[in-house]
Amino acid sequence: MTELLKFQNVNISYEKKQVLYDISFSLSSGEILGIVGNSGCGKSTLLKSILSLEGPKVTKGDILFKDMSLLSLNNEDMRQIRGKSISMVFQESGIHTNPLKTVSDTVFESMRAHCAISKRDALDTAVHIFESLSLPDPERILSSYPFELSGGMNQRVGIALAMLNKPSIILADEPTSALDPIVAVQIVNELKSLREKYNTAIILVTHNIKIARSITDTIMVLHHGKIADYGNTKEVLSSPKSEFTKELILSALG
Ligand SMILES: Nc1ncnc2c1ncn2[C@@H]1O[C@H](COP(=O)(O)OP(=O)(O)OP(=O)(O)O)[C@@H](O)[C@H]1O
Ligand SMILES: [Mg+2]
Repeated sequence: MTELLKFQNVNISYEKKQVLYDISFSLSSGEILGIVGNSGCGKSTLLKSILSLEGPKVTKGDILFKDMSLLSLNNEDMRQIRGKSISMVFQESGIHTNPLKTVSDTVFESMRAHCAISKRDALDTAVHIFESLSLPDPERILSSYPFELSGGMNQRVGIALAMLNKPSIILADEPTSALDPIVAVQIVNELKSLREKYNTAIILVTHNIKIARSITDTIMVLHHGKIADYGNTKEVLSSPKSEFTKELILSALG
């Protein structure tokens, strides 16, 4: 297992408001890390800071990807990392697409941004990923606009699209919220199969401790922007250190 990502004593703020305090953790290839905690504790902010997405600023510490500081990259280098080495499935929509473009146009554009590829080869790659994730009728998905697909299907397509450039890390922000339990289970299985097939490392942000328990190797519990517990998922859930985690487990798992 290679260490891919490392947070070293990171503080993160919006304007003058500090949101995350002294965050340290590491993520290795093929590892699934869950981040749980109440609404507003800083989960999405943590993911956004990895890709330098607009808003949050790192005010202390460092974020390393394969021993290289992500904070020192210029915009062009960061664009190459985004979508190629580290890609993100967003909380709101899953599918990070232009609603006015078909899935096939989005596929072609996001692959062409990182390598010289023909449209046919790009679409073949997408069909292969859709099939490996058991998405039904790949050709129909490709010719659809996002609004022609259900919410659950958009989330699943979003995960498939995040895989297009075979990133080493996928950041998934609540990919199962707002979905019915059957589709949620399907998505969790798809994330697992990504790890098995491609050794992708995944950071999964979720409100759902049961999902975190079933899929993650390691877990971080955030409370008001600080790490309340972090470590091997089984160990944290069976012997949590903080009172907050104890209460969270009690209310979710009984
Ligand atoms: N663009 C922004 N500008 C200023 N403050 C923000 C911004 N985005 C988020 N915040 C604040 O940062 C804190 C953490 O927000 P964040 O979205 O990271 O929480 P979260 O844990 O993802 O919550 P949820 O579970 O509801 O998605 C909150 O207090 C929020 O109000
Ligand atoms: Mg969030």
